[in-house]
Amino acid sequence: MPLVVFAGVEITTMNNVFNFSAGPAMLPAEVMSQAQAEFIDWQGSGCSVMEVSHRGKAFIEVAAAAEQDLRDLLAIPDNYKVLFSHGGGRGQFAAVPLNISKSSDTSLHIVSGSWSKGAVTEASKYNQAKVVAEVSQKDGLNYMAPPSLENIDASAAYLHFCPNETVDGIAYNWLPESGEVPLVSDMSSCILSAPLDVSKHGIIYAGAQKNIGPSGLSVVIVRDDLIGKARRETPSIFDYDLMAKNDSMYNTPPTFSWYLAGLVFKWLKAQGGLAAMESRNKEKAAILYAAIDSSDFYSNPVHPDNRSIMNVPFLLAEESLNAVFLEKAESAGLRALKGHRSVGGMRASIYNAMPKAGVLTLVEFMQHFEKQYG
Ligand SMILES: Cc1ncc(COP(=O)(O)O)c(C=O)c1O
Repeated sequence: MPLVVFAGVEITTMNNVFNFSAGPAMLPAEVMSQAQAEFIDWQGSGCSVMEVSHRGKAFIEVAAAAEQDLRDLLAIPDNYKVLFSHGGGRGQFAAVPLNISKSSDTSLHIVSGSWSKGAVTEASKYNQAKVVAEVSQKDGLNYMAPPSLENIDASAAYLHFCPNETVDGIAYNWLPESGEVPLVSDMSSCILSAPLDVSKHGIIYAGAQKNIGPSGLSVVIVRDDLIGKARRETPSIFDYDLMAKNDSMYNTPPTFSWYLAGLVFKWLKAQGGLAAMESRNKEKAAILYAAIDSSDFYSNPVHPDNRSIMNVPFLLAEESLNAVFLEKAESAGLRALKGHRSVGGMRASIYNAMPKAGVLTLVEFMQHFEKQYG
């Protein structure tokens, strides 16, 4: 793997490329390098980790270490189970209602963008899904105010929200005040980006493919009192009780993804944990937003109160320049900057694995581009 010196900082990149993909996203170069070294001969076994039984001692140790490292990183209280599930984020859009609501129950939803909207659509197949707050506009920008929830239905099965909307780049760090109604948080694109208080949540879930590891895996952190209520028709592999009782190995788990997630957790610990990641992530985001704000050529459509430090959408003054911007960025080794098809423009996803040098390189590229085309 090439070592690049950028702005006086030595960094390792994969092939001199900075990958801004929203997911599957770049993984830490050190983790990829270790996985490569172990790929065909894992722990001297002569096999790959993806070729060994999930029931064997060696894999069980990897699985248990990954769970423990995640528990350490997030300070997960003992009354929460950690599940390593199939089905990504959308799998949990269905698993949550199937596990903790009856079809006559109400589920409450805060819709801050595309993904929390998707969660409502899925939940409404299984229960009485009701939107209690929606993203709005303030000063012509997308804005998500803390909703007033004093009068919410206290008998609702849960309140679902998504504190970081990957497509829209909308984030918030307030927690909905839902009283006794359990909070269910889709943290697919922000988990592990900063410390969080797990005890405030009933369920936290996240598709792995941004800050955890390869796609196909999702991590579910679920409070004990919400386990054991699954409907009869819940697919067994999504039944939290069955999954917990079988250490997430009721069926064959996505072993390679689980192993790689374990390497990422160890990498995060070596980086100084989540407080260190948060300050790095904030610094990277501040650099990029400052570059956007100081230019008349680029703009960000999100209100400053709701700017995501993980996904930064930006628009060019001339939409007709999008194609050339993307083409030139690609040739400069800046990959996957195209915004989601539903919103257009650009989006730089700058998850934990993105080094500061990647953001500095992007900013330098944006400034050159503006000089040439602005
Ligand atoms: C916030 C959020 N929730 C849910 C999903 C859906 O995840 P998956 O594609 O793993 O089902 C995504 C995917 O990017 C996401 O960003």
